[in-house]
Amino acid sequence: MKTIWIAGATGLVGQSLVQRLSTSTAHTVVAFVRKRSALQGPAQVVVDFDHLENADVGSLRPDEAFCALGTTRKVAGSDEAFRRVDLDYVVAFAKRAKAAGAHKFVLISSLGADASSSMLYARTKGEAEEAVRALGFATVVVVRPSVLDGDRKESRPGEAVALAIGRVIAPLMLGPLRKYRPSPVDEVARAAIVALRESEKDGRSFRICEAEELPSLARNYHH
Ligand SMILES: NC(=O)c1ccc[n+]([C@@H]2O[C@H](COP(=O)([O-])OP(=O)(O)OC[C@H]3O[C@@H](n4cnc5c(N)ncnc54)[C@H](OP(=O)(O)O)[C@@H]3O)[C@@H](O)[C@H]2O)c1
Repeated sequence: MKTIWIAGATGLVGQSLVQRLSTSTAHTVVAFVRKRSALQGPAQVVVDFDHLENADVGSLRPDEAFCALGTTRKVAGSDEAFRRVDLDYVVAFAKRAKAAGAHKFVLISSLGADASSSMLYARTKGEAEEAVRALGFATVVVVRPSVLDGDRKESRPGEAVALAIGRVIAPLMLGPLRKYRPSPVDEVARAAIVALRESEKDGRSFRICEAEELPSLARNYHH
């Protein structure tokens, strides 16, 4: 029985990951949450992300971990608060998983992630990718979706406009523009799982999955 830890399990991508990972009886899925939620399937461990080292995980030692944590600058309230979630919490979760025995880590990052970018979002995502990679997991998979297409309850007007336009013009986005097509959340989840399994098979220690690769990766998902 494999144990899989997940952070960000209550989010759009996280819920899809939980749903997909929980279908297998060969997995125990453990969700790290800041408050108990109505999530179906996984065991829930309520943690303080500022002090993950204190998280009581008992015998729930992970084989692998998935991270779909994230917030927005607007919700967080400041650049620092945004970076606390999208960088500090991501790295703290990865460190905690590694210390508890995980060999493999999957990070849901973003299209355009770039540690040298002048843009807060792209830079933070790029820094998180680099920091996770440096932790020495046997396998790290980074997934970089485009704007997420899913049933979001929270109002995010900018994202909603980008998504509405993206849905309409997606068929026209060809060649180098293909990566800007919206990424359906379940496609992101399936692609992440497939990319990890493929990397294990190929013995690849690091893989970045760009947005345009996600549809074909997801098609290879068989649970
Ligand atoms: N939105 C897009 O179009 C887009 C595009 C490309 C990449 N991405 C990236 O993809 C990843 C997944 O995105 P998503 O839209 O699925 O995320 P989401 O729906 O916004 O969910 C975010 C998750 O992070 C948790 N979280 C947020 N703030 C937290 C905090 N202060 N402390 C602890 N946990 C916190 C949330 O927990 P609670 O339920 O407790 O709030 C939730 O589980 C993120 O890294 C995001 O940046 C997003």
